[in-house]
Amino acid sequence: MKPIPTAALLAAALASSLAQAQSTGKLKVGLMLPATGTFAALGTAIENGFRLHVTEQGGKLGGREVEFVKVDDESDPAKATDNVNKLIKRDNVDVLVGTVHSGVAMAMAKVAKETGTLLIVPNAGADAVTGPMCAPNIFRSSFSNWQPGYAMGEVVAKKGHKKVVTITWKYAAGDESVRGFKEAFEKAGGQVVKELSLPFPNVEFQALLTEIAAAKPDAVYTFFAGGGAVKFVKDYAAAGLKKNIPLYGAGFLTDGTLEAQGADADGLLTTLHYADSLGTPRDNAFRLAYAKSFKLQPDVYAVQGYDAAQMLGIGLAAVKGDTGKKAEIAAAIEKAKIDSPRGAFSVSRSHNPVQDIYLRQVSGKENKLVSVASKSLADPARGCKL
Ligand code: BEZ
Repeated sequence: MKPIPTAALLAAALASSLAQAQSTGKLKVGLMLPATGTFAALGTAIENGFRLHVTEQGGKLGGREVEFVKVDDESDPAKATDNVNKLIKRDNVDVLVGTVHSGVAMAMAKVAKETGTLLIVPNAGADAVTGPMCAPNIFRSSFSNWQPGYAMGEVVAKKGHKKVVTITWKYAAGDESVRGFKEAFEKAGGQVVKELSLPFPNVEFQALLTEIAAAKPDAVYTFFAGGGAVKFVKDYAAAGLKKNIPLYGAGFLTDGTLEAQGADADGLLTTLHYADSLGTPRDNAFRLAYAKSFKLQPDVYAVQGYDAAQMLGIGLAAVKGDTGKKAEIAAAIEKAKIDSPRGAFSVSRSHNPVQDIYLRQVSGKENKLVSVASKSLADPARGCKL
């Protein structure tokens, strides 16, 4: 018998220990979220939600104990590629979960696509992630920026408003939210007469609020989130605009922000894939468990983190924790109905949730359900070639 060369033996041993590590041992989850800056609270809620589901599963997904490797992405697209490369190449994470900011998420998606690493996006709505950048290994547990914007365009048109000014941060999320709004609003006969913006994450709104007052539109549509949303709602009221020009927004405007916004948010109407008073047994159980664990009320970000963990759990259960079986993981998530607190949903062919978008109204410290603004709304996934 011919002796087996040492190099071949070594390679075989390496391959077998790699396969072993992919199906047993700890599951390394790379959590790339903002821990500082205007979106810090959103990152915390996503992580809390994710951890809650893992805890409910006894600390394991797909039979493997979960270990977290965390990076504060600072919502800074300039640092995103380095941050995600560190998680993949230095920390050898098995999967990536992140993030909040659309610009950072697009950098993550690019690296995930190039390396084949499984990525679950638990917030950032960048249309491109489930559009031109879509990939078999990239999923989203949240929304596309188009979805709440489009739903609100229909609502505002139905209310009889004809001329609207939009105001947002100048980056993918703001631009795409406004684009979705405009598409539906103008299709229904309305007109966006002015599009105002300021760079992310600036909060010097005064000059733009003066422009809104001068334009005298029937209504204003806006996308802001986190700390910026708190300040915008307060400044809008302080400028005396709230009582004269109705303010509508993608629901991030009033989600996770109501304690800080106080009475200035009262009565605001927004559209989102979650509301505080759904009242379903599934949502009630989630809200109770979240409040018990974190001494906080959950918001949309907590739901999206929880569902990212559910999606990962579904994928890994199908392969008994073997992260090497990428096609099988993807197939399992694709055919799943995710039992979300928001209501059960499935993902579209581009891996974005197909979901009800609710119309909500702020009352006290809650985003109360008014109606379903758009039933089973699917992102158009323009440019996705899956
Ligand atoms: C985004 O950048 O996609 C985003 C950030 C906060 C809330 C919603 C969307």
